[in-house]
Amino acid sequence: MLEAGGSKLLFDPFIRHNRLAAHIPLSEIKPDYILISHGHEDHVADAQDIARQSGAMFISNFEVVSWFGKKGFEKLWGMNHGGKHTFDFGTVRYVNAVHSSTMPDGEPGGNPGGFIIEADGKRLYYAGDTAVHMDMELIGRHWRPDIAILPIGDNFTMGVEDAVICSDMIRCDKIIGMHYDTFPFIEIDHKEAVRTFSLKGIKLSLMEIGESKEV
Ligand code: NI
Repeated sequence: MLEAGGSKLLFDPFIRHNRLAAHIPLSEIKPDYILISHGHEDHVADAQDIARQSGAMFISNFEVVSWFGKKGFEKLWGMNHGGKHTFDFGTVRYVNAVHSSTMPDGEPGGNPGGFIIEADGKRLYYAGDTAVHMDMELIGRHWRPDIAILPIGDNFTMGVEDAVICSDMIRCDKIIGMHYDTFPFIEIDHKEAVRTFSLKGIKLSLMEIGESKEV
């Protein structure tokens, strides 16, 4: 969850069936917006219940928000790659991710993406699930995020080594790691990860579940 521009933005909620987050009471999560990077179950699992209790608006690619539309939700904002839109909290740009995107019931989930958020005079890049790819150069060249949230768990997304390459491409030296330790396939050595980033002068934060951080 990101608090920016007076709003609460929740990304890819996976809580109740996440062995690391199952203790978090879902009823206390009340965002204004739910941003979904792609349709995989571990990114949309709790989205419907949270949207129902909070009245949050979905922001994602057109196919993903249309899927939520079929489930009866009306507060939907569909985007596609390269597009940006200004909301009351700031601007969201939907950018490329190299991954896949199928909804939990097998329906198509469009193409996966990430988000560049501009709010409160700062830029944040939330990469979603992705490999390292050359379009990240564009992000570094034109949007230079102040902070980036990158997957580092390997196997399904980039691992630490490639996330360091990504950090270099996007020209960002403050990284928050995500998409690690949730499943046995993506467990990482925390100390080694922090060290690998620090050798390149990059600060990697591995936040505890429930921890807050000012950026
Ligand atoms: Ni995924």
